Amino acid sequence: MCGITGYVGAREASEVILQGLHTLEYRGYDSAGIAAFANGNLAVVKAVGKVQNVEEKVKALGTLNGAHCGIGHTRWATHGAPSDINSHPHGNERIQIVHNGIIENYAPLRAMLQKNGYTFVSETDTEVAAKLIDYHYANCHDRADALIAAMRDIVGSYAIAVLFADCPDTLYAIRKDNPLIVGVGEGESFVASDIAAVLRYTKNYYQLGDHQLAVVTKDRVSILDMEKTPVEHELLTATWSIEAAERGGYAHFMIKEIGEEPEAIEKTLRPRIKDMLPCFEEEGLDDSRLAGIKSVTFVACGTAMHAGLVGKTVIEKLCRVPVNVEIASEFRYNDPILNKDDLVVIISQSGETADSLAALRLAKEKGAYTLGIVNVIGSTIAREADDVIYTWAGPEISVASTKAYTVQISLLYLLSIRMALAMGKLTEDAARSYTRTLYEDMPRIVREAIALEDEVAEAAALFCDYEDLFFIGRGIDYHLAMEGSLKLKEISYIHSEAYAAGELKHGTISLITEDMPVIALATTSPLYEKMISNIREVKARGAEVLLITREGAKDAADEAKKVIYLPNCSELFSAIPLATILQLLAYHVAAKRGCDIDKPRNLAKSVTVE
Ligand code: AGP
Repeated sequence: MCGITGYVGAREASEVILQGLHTLEYRGYDSAGIAAFANGNLAVVKAVGKVQNVEEKVKALGTLNGAHCGIGHTRWATHGAPSDINSHPHGNERIQIVHNGIIENYAPLRAMLQKNGYTFVSETDTEVAAKLIDYHYANCHDRADALIAAMRDIVGSYAIAVLFADCPDTLYAIRKDNPLIVGVGEGESFVASDIAAVLRYTKNYYQLGDHQLAVVTKDRVSILDMEKTPVEHELLTATWSIEAAERGGYAHFMIKEIGEEPEAIEKTLRPRIKDMLPCFEEEGLDDSRLAGIKSVTFVACGTAMHAGLVGKTVIEKLCRVPVNVEIASEFRYNDPILNKDDLVVIISQSGETADSLAALRLAKEKGAYTLGIVNVIGSTIAREADDVIYTWAGPEISVASTKAYTVQISLLYLLSIRMALAMGKLTEDAARSYTRTLYEDMPRIVREAIALEDEVAEAAALFCDYEDLFFIGRGIDYHLAMEGSLKLKEISYIHSEAYAAGELKHGTISLITEDMPVIALATTSPLYEKMISNIREVKARGAEVLLITREGAKDAADEAKKVIYLPNCSELFSAIPLATILQLLAYHVAAKRGCDIDKPRNLAKSVTVE
């Protein structure tokens, strides 16, 4: 939700921190700030608005010049509107902190602190955390003990970096349920929400665990648990180059990431295919485990939940076991009925989504076997699920998820084939044939879908001036319609709705007029004629129709104002190129409307709060 970073070493701290904050802006960008030791003082510069505003203020004030140890923050507001005073860092002359997460019990803590003489200037929960640490430090006179005492008091989620005024060459960091890495360089060290923030300086990092405390100087990193016992950590190496995390010449991260889909699919599937059959044994999913699954529940949010809908369609088709798809924020409060033979799959690009993490923990409490499908190595969901299958989509910076979704559904196809084989629902020959099509054909077919970009951009021109529209589809096309609708809404701000095409006549068709265009998805042959009937129904009421269908679809050109034909592909897998087309459509509509495509208003890339 927010991005934090910190530096200690020989470089100009403000430069390193600002660089990191620019990279972290995808996590939130409504205000930002830096605290650093300069000229013997703990100096703070912060401002509402994007990181650029702080950068200009730092240059103008010069108060951070010469600092070699500091912390920084870019915010997505949760407690307190975006403002200068609510911007991080928070603290007083003795301590400054930056925080990502939510202190749920900030009110009683603030009351206790006020009783002990503390005053507060902001509306934030973070200021309470800062003064809580200060309170403990004033009582115990040990920085580590103060931080541990604060962790014991705090209820909520946090990744916090801390500067103590009386210890000007050391960064402290604590975390629970929010990501925090400790970067290790030559004579310099870093803390950050995401390795991308420090990749230009080092690829080596530790992933701080929950309820752990990092004590970081330029030459040494110590990680302690709540008993101040040193904790051994594996030094990880980021596989992402800084270029991979930067735009590489594209107009937006989103279009860059769509372009990466063929390679991302291939990279993700390749390690899970042996002898041209799916193989997930390295992820702990052998045939005995898969064959014993009685039901599957996908739990996720937003686009990741829509990937679960595709997984449902494919697993029920190939494996004939019941599949539920649950919105994580609902699942976690619905007291779900789960048993030990139930597979609960948490899909999450970031691996830090608070609702999905809570759902994972609830499923584990109820004894279900939990599997994470996650894109970020070492993220909380990845570490807490019983097993995890990583998607190798690489860093997804644009707030709108594209390649992560396309890779998630590709992976779910592969997993479904293995499950069906393990359950005896597919012969080995059939499984191998499906796998070959998926692995050998789909990256090429997605490239062909991307090559349709100009045609899709033309179609986008039909819709960019509307404020409302419908997506309609049947079966898996209805699930893709939901994802297409979300993509369009979140980046173009057009209000769109995905509707089961057969359901329109039960009320919603009353909304169809010449001012309500319709995007119809018809990629499955058995339902094509039904879809044509639905298209005729909405056309009769004045709607302009864009039809996205398969090559050779009967009389398609006569049925719609504009038709986009998918590249020729196996019908079972048509959801994959269709996803790419829908992402391109949303992108070009938003581009024509001049929207801030990579950072849509009100949104953040990783929603680590409820
Ligand atoms: C995707 O376009 C959205 N920005 C959003 O719905 C996202 O998919 C959702 O917040 C889940 O995120 P996760 O995959 O990181 O858990």
